[in-house]
Amino acid sequence: MTSGRNPTADDETENRSRQRDLYVDLLMGCLTRELFLTEETHDVDLSEWPGDTDMLRSVLKANRWRLMRTGGRHAARAEGHDWPPTAETMVGRQRLADVRWCIDQVMAEGVVGDFIETGVWRGGVTILMKGMLEAWGDTRRRVWVADSFRGLPVPNVEEYPADEGHDMSKVRTLQVSADEVRANFERYGLLDERVCFLEGWFADTLATAPIDRLAILRLDGDLYESTTDALIALYPKLSVGGYVLVDDYGAWEPCRKAVDDYRATHGITDEIVPVDWTGIHWRRSN
Ligand SMILES: C[S@@+](CC[C@H](N)C(=O)[O-])C[C@H]1O[C@@H](n2cnc3c(N)ncnc32)[C@H](O)[C@@H]1O
Repeated sequence: MTSGRNPTADDETENRSRQRDLYVDLLMGCLTRELFLTEETHDVDLSEWPGDTDMLRSVLKANRWRLMRTGGRHAARAEGHDWPPTAETMVGRQRLADVRWCIDQVMAEGVVGDFIETGVWRGGVTILMKGMLEAWGDTRRRVWVADSFRGLPVPNVEEYPADEGHDMSKVRTLQVSADEVRANFERYGLLDERVCFLEGWFADTLATAPIDRLAILRLDGDLYESTTDALIALYPKLSVGGYVLVDDYGAWEPCRKAVDDYRATHGITDEIVPVDWTGIHWRRSN
């Protein structure tokens, strides 16, 4: 202290809050790779190449080369518009900042319950959740990490017609194993017994998961089926004052319909707050 006086309780609180902010800022910059965008490499999409690419393609093929560009795009990463090559999350800074804001509210107000994301991909959002628990000094809440860890299901269009035409089940980039996600937690020093993996299809894992209460329920499973399975199993466990965050509400019609149908069926009228071009959240009021 340069003022020569002893630190007060207010000083201590301010210091703790600043330390927390610095750590969470850094964590978010790493998880999105925004801090390292200039070092990123991306495959060049030849369909965007001006002019004839036949010669280029044959040279690349003959030499088993790939054409890469360096540098990620700040706007895309801020808004979660690209699928990053190495980042642990694709949701982008704005939606990650929304996760942070909701967590800060429930921690500051003592809203009871664990945190969960259904649909974690490489785990980045759940890593942020656990990092924030550490930053708040919480030693009791758990972070639930729910995913098939082998990508999206083949749409069951007989039961969920809204998913027709949205078959992403063969998209390799979306297939990330539980071991890879565990390794990502370990990279940040955040893997312990309070990080709980729910491995399998949501329809098989969520309803029977040993979760008592939730304060944060984040849905990122894209499909009508995946969104509705998560809401039916988990919304009744959400504390009053807790938040539901939906990643795909704006961008994916099946997800939006699942949310709208669930809210209509259960008479939920809590205000939907837009986060960016696709993400939303609402706070449970009763
Ligand atoms: C768009 S990714 C999630 C992105 C992630 N939240 C992030 O931070 O980058 C969708 C994830 O949902 C999972 N998923 C979708 N539907 C599922 C289901 N019915 N059961 C289990 N996992 C599912 C996929 O395996 C995939 O990892």
